Amino acid sequence: MPGGQSKPLLRALGGEKPERPPWWLMRQAGRYLPEYHALRAQAPSFVDFCLNPLLATEATLQPVRRFGMDAAIVFADILLVPRALGQRVTFGEDGPLLEAIEESGGVAGLHQRDLSGLAPVYETVRRSRTELSPEIALIGFAGSPWTVATYMVEGGASRDFLRVKAWAYRDPSGFTALIELIADATVLYLSGQIVAGADVVQLFDSWAGILSESGFERWVIAPTRRITAALKQAFPTVPVIGFPRGAGLFYERYAAESGVDVVGIDSAVPLSFARERLQGCVAVQGNLDPVALLVGGAALQQEVQQIRAALADGPFIFNLGHGVLPQTPPEHVAQLAKLLAEPVAPA
Ligand code: CP3
Repeated sequence: MPGGQSKPLLRALGGEKPERPPWWLMRQAGRYLPEYHALRAQAPSFVDFCLNPLLATEATLQPVRRFGMDAAIVFADILLVPRALGQRVTFGEDGPLLEAIEESGGVAGLHQRDLSGLAPVYETVRRSRTELSPEIALIGFAGSPWTVATYMVEGGASRDFLRVKAWAYRDPSGFTALIELIADATVLYLSGQIVAGADVVQLFDSWAGILSESGFERWVIAPTRRITAALKQAFPTVPVIGFPRGAGLFYERYAAESGVDVVGIDSAVPLSFARERLQGCVAVQGNLDPVALLVGGAALQQEVQQIRAALADGPFIFNLGHGVLPQTPPEHVAQLAKLLAEPVAPA
């Protein structure tokens, strides 16, 4: 095998055409698994859980053990970076809560360099890599600067993103300082994960789809390129996956300009567009609708078949178009694993 590479996921990215596509699922660890609930009960808070390498390693391994994905993703959260930068972050019943940073104060209250709070995640990566068999890729991750900034400025989830978008328009240079602070922290954080044993890294840009063209260039493409350039210089062989969810017509420019090796596509991206306009330039990852996985049965089978028929000839990783929904029956993930193990039926 070329370069002695035994991981099907890395081989597919290296240009080999496998009989079945490598696969994993965004948010493959978590609340749809009963064994996750049992584990989660052992920590007082979600942040404590993420920062406990023993518990987080077990959460990383759980889905792979049950379903045999080709990759594990380190169990952590994108909001550990703002926490490491000095922002208060908690997780309540209704999602994350942050002490929102104010436009007027800018980035002054955040510390630039001390990311020692992230060290337990590197330990989770080390332990997970040791426990995983060599055929399974280990994926490290971070949020992309724009998506992380939305949580830091809004103070949590948002409907309209008014505060963060208004800041970006009103004071672009002040907002650039925030974006670059997050980008540089993200380079250090992902580098730490790679040194600890991550084989691939993914940038989650969950809110890339709410920006105008100029905003997309400035707050999505430019900081992503800043991160990929730094990572490529230090780790030229480690693939970077970018997931600019909802990017629509901007997906093509993202693929051409952001410097990522793999583009994660959401479920609304037409398969013909992904094949014709993206796969010539990058590998594609996606894009099963998480609701089709929740429903299972014939609907799941049909969607999987269509995605494979369209994308499996080019460089491709099978995944969802967004994260596994907590209500998903684990049996449907087992059905998906079985479907993906079969050769694709002729269209
Ligand atoms: O993929 C995996 O299995 C690895 C773990 C992982 C988590 N969060 C664990 C988690 C990953 C990759 C993430 C990424 C993440 N976190 C994103 C990007 C992907 C996306 O879904 O858009 C975002 C936006 C966050 C921020 C976040 N974390 C939110 C908005 C919430 C609350 C809502 C929700 O989905 O639960 C979280 C909490 C969170 N992160 C949980 C898990 C398992 C649930 C908390 C719990 O178990 O009590």
